[in-house]
Amino acid sequence: MSSMPASTATEAPYRAINFADKLAQIHDQWQQRVVAEMNDYQFKVVKIEGDFIWHEHADTDETFIVLDGHLRIDFRDGAVHVGAGEMFVVPRGKEHKPYAQKEVQMLVIEPRGVRNTGEEQNERTAANDLWI
Ligand code: NI
Repeated sequence: MSSMPASTATEAPYRAINFADKLAQIHDQWQQRVVAEMNDYQFKVVKIEGDFIWHEHADTDETFIVLDGHLRIDFRDGAVHVGAGEMFVVPRGKEHKPYAQKEVQMLVIEPRGVRNTGEEQNERTAANDLWI
């Protein structure tokens, strides 16, 4: 014989975050959407295509994890190519410019409140704290 648990308070909906599901909800490019937080860090999915702007983040490193496509991150003294299933950490204070010849779908990990264009503000500057 079975019975219901005495309390349902512990029946939290344990649900994995599925990147494909999240990306399917995104119909624009360059706007980062938060899918999770870990302490004061945010995990953000974004689709990009084309050229970003040169910028740097004075106070934090920035992690890129490519889910689909091929990302190139330019530096003043070189570039790194990051393919699907690969990641790269841009060091704090290092000037960089992401570039995607075709659309790239990726996960960006950085502290809450970081502006995507660093000290710059232009048409590529994304709103913060948009959750999906
Ligand atoms: Ni950056």
